[in-house]
Amino acid sequence: MNKEIGSQSIVEPMKNFISVKDVKDINGLVQKSLHYKMHPFKDRHVGVDKRVGLLFLNPSMRTRLSTQVAAQNLGLEPILFNIDKEGWALEFEEEAIMSGNTVEHVKDAAPIMGKYFDILCIRTFPSLKNRDDDYSELFIKQFIKYSGIPVVSMESATLHPLQSLTDIITIKEILSHESQAKKTKPKIVLTWAPHVKPLPQCVANSFAQWVNAWGEAEFVITHPEDYELDPAFTKGASITHNQDEALKNADFVYVKNWSTYNDYGKIYCNDPEWMMTNEKLKLTNRAKVMHCLPVRRNVELSDEILDGPNSIVTQQASNRVWAAQAVLAEILKSSS
Ligand code: CP
Repeated sequence: MNKEIGSQSIVEPMKNFISVKDVKDINGLVQKSLHYKMHPFKDRHVGVDKRVGLLFLNPSMRTRLSTQVAAQNLGLEPILFNIDKEGWALEFEEEAIMSGNTVEHVKDAAPIMGKYFDILCIRTFPSLKNRDDDYSELFIKQFIKYSGIPVVSMESATLHPLQSLTDIITIKEILSHESQAKKTKPKIVLTWAPHVKPLPQCVANSFAQWVNAWGEAEFVITHPEDYELDPAFTKGASITHNQDEALKNADFVYVKNWSTYNDYGKIYCNDPEWMMTNEKLKLTNRAKVMHCLPVRRNVELSDEILDGPNSIVTQQASNRVWAAQAVLAEILKSSS
């Protein structure tokens, strides 16, 4: 495996970017991302005369902007399409009798996009109504099947890999600035937080999947009873319902709400006691606090944390550019 960075390939060919399973060398991809942070325009010609389609079926701020910036840093032309608002309603089921609300089948639309673009990036959310449907990842799988070009997930029904790559980049960046005396394995805690709406499990699933695959941390997940995540993603983490116990000596605390996985898509408990506060931070090892954003202030996380010295949410969100740039560059190199 080639370990060089910059314009050289540091991972085995990346065909699509849907989950951590598409990455053979997480640290190599992190290193490449941080290299782009220092040298944003180093590979400004690798995407010249190529186009990336950014297809949004759902709202976004960070993903939409950072992926455009990343593409432009590589000379790629990003073309954004809010298909949920501006396009025809897509059908994804095979052999569907399209007598309802859907107007165009993905097997007709995706090959056309495959002719217009060199890479297709897609954001879609789960319905939170039917777990089997959501966890089948039909939308993104159909685009992979029918577009004929590399597909990058900008968040799917169950995972958010660009966010998770960013999260590992940010953790490694912080660790690299800390003293040599620091223990070798940081303690990372993913904690459930209250929210007013049922949210997808994507960010939590994906963070767990990436931290477990990365393997360089003591990893604890804490949530109220009945908020278990899919074990396919959490296997390898310690799981506890005792948030205070989990937070003890934590170096990083990742705060995130998710709705129930077993009795799918519900809110059971919205105990405000689960909100992260400065009082709870006293249990930690002066932990850095992370959140993917957008965040409900004083519901998930207190103002005092978000506006205080422990919050790294802005650094985290800014690193979205370098994660997207490294992934797009790898895919361009693999497909050239
Ligand atoms: N974290 C994240 O994906 O943000 P957006 O939904 O604004 O893109």
